[in-house]
Amino acid sequence: MPLSKQYLMNAFGSESQANMSYLYCAHQADKENFSNTARLFRAIAYSGFVQAGNYYGQLKDLEGGFVTNSTTFFGLGNTGENIKLAIMRKNFETTEMYPIYLRIAKFQGEKGAERSFTWAYLTKRVQKKLLVKVKESVIRGSDPKLGPIQVCKICGYTRIGEVPNKCPVCKATREHFATFVSY
Ligand code: FE2
Repeated sequence: MPLSKQYLMNAFGSESQANMSYLYCAHQADKENFSNTARLFRAIAYSGFVQAGNYYGQLKDLEGGFVTNSTTFFGLGNTGENIKLAIMRKNFETTEMYPIYLRIAKFQGEKGAERSFTWAYLTKRVQKKLLVKVKESVIRGSDPKLGPIQVCKICGYTRIGEVPNKCPVCKATREHFATFVSY
């Protein structure tokens, strides 16, 4: 099995676990009445679900159970601490995990893996900026003001604001976005 296939499995495991970590962060943010921060965590969790699905689809020819080397973050605390954990996670994904996976996929000519890892890498970079943007407000103890949050259902790209006409990462059209609205 090419190493890039193992990395698809690892990435599936990692996104699956990270999806749950972000949902717990959202749950904690709700408890602290940080509803916009909770919404951002849920949008990021959904993005992980989308990306896990991209990997899962490429592994559909495998049968049975396999061991994955999955990563996520532990140390759930208050929302200020959780934002810092999430930023650390995005740092890891954009400086180690996905650049390495991407390099191997390219080297092995695995086009599907290369495309999915590129989408994940670009998405995580944007999400890191969004988390950094809300960090100061959360640490000061106030829920940041955030507009609607959009997540591309094809690649997981995440943005705050209106739906773009075209996804800047995968070029999907606007009907392929899920909106996490504020109430
Ligand atoms: Fe996209």
